[in-house]
Amino acid sequence: MIQEIQQHLKEVEAFAPTSIEEVEAFRIKYLSKKGILNGFFKAFKEVPGDQKREYGQAVNTLKTKLEETVKHWKETLESQEEEAGIFGDLTRPGNPITIGSRHPISIVRNRIVDIFSTIGFTISEGPEVEDDWHNFSALNLPEHHPARDMQDTFFVQTDPSILLRTHTSSVQVRHMEENKPPIRTISPGRVYRNEDISARSHCFFHQVEGLYIDKNVSFADLKQTLQYFTEQMFGKSEIRLRPSYFPFTEPSAEVDVYWGLETETDYRMTKGTGWLEIMGCGMVDPNVLENCGIDPEVYSGFAFGMGIDRIALLNYQIPDIRMLSENDMRFLSQFKSIL
Ligand code: PHE
Repeated sequence: MIQEIQQHLKEVEAFAPTSIEEVEAFRIKYLSKKGILNGFFKAFKEVPGDQKREYGQAVNTLKTKLEETVKHWKETLESQEEEAGIFGDLTRPGNPITIGSRHPISIVRNRIVDIFSTIGFTISEGPEVEDDWHNFSALNLPEHHPARDMQDTFFVQTDPSILLRTHTSSVQVRHMEENKPPIRTISPGRVYRNEDISARSHCFFHQVEGLYIDKNVSFADLKQTLQYFTEQMFGKSEIRLRPSYFPFTEPSAEVDVYWGLETETDYRMTKGTGWLEIMGCGMVDPNVLENCGIDPEVYSGFAFGMGIDRIALLNYQIPDIRMLSENDMRFLSQFKSIL
């Protein structure tokens, strides 16, 4: 009987099917209830006592070998068949490729960067953990200046001269310290303010800063640049500049774009006026130029800063700023087709 088992073992080893049907027939022959293997198991009780051990081992070997062989050929032939199917039928629909989506903040930032780079602005960046000089003092906000309270700041507890930047204007300072005019640069980045979190405001958000320094730069250049931007960005060129105050610009202005009152949402967003505030701007204060090693007698320039999050909320009619940082896939995947 053991010889018989050895014989089958050889047969199993030599098995080389070419179709799944063959494998199935083989499986039934050996491994089904009435198959050969079960026959050997049943015969166990008739084996003389002194041969039982050897017999048992041989049957077990055959069993393992059979199971391996069937599994191996099934997998091999199945994948071959699948490949033949894929390459054989060219009309089969393709497998859908799931593409990711850009974050709405990135979409808006990229758009802003694109618009300004077509008119010669470079991109610059600075650190989010900033020192007092670059975030405040160099920008005409000396210690104890009341305007420091305009922006509630997160300070590093062990060293209050280190803080999380409250605006991207800090990058203006760094850029002017490191570059000579003419300067045309925009600086996108994340900023932090110690504010209560609500549907309209968050303790971190994103800004794009713009800086233009050269000889004979005037307020008219600023207005022209902003008009070009709003036209490209929103398809709306009617803007108005309202006098405002920033310590680092003089004169300073708040920029509104005429959004219109076509929908219910427009009424809500513009509070029924049709005008929408989109950024702060102004002519760079001579003190700031001097702080950064640029001669204010020779050079002048303008700067502006806008919030990316706000524009994203507007553009996509997102009702709550917190949705931008919750990472909810149901929200994020809605921006799929936008680059
Ligand atoms: N830094 C200002 C803010 O955070 C915006 C601004 C930038 C204003 C540049 C004028 C010039 O609100």
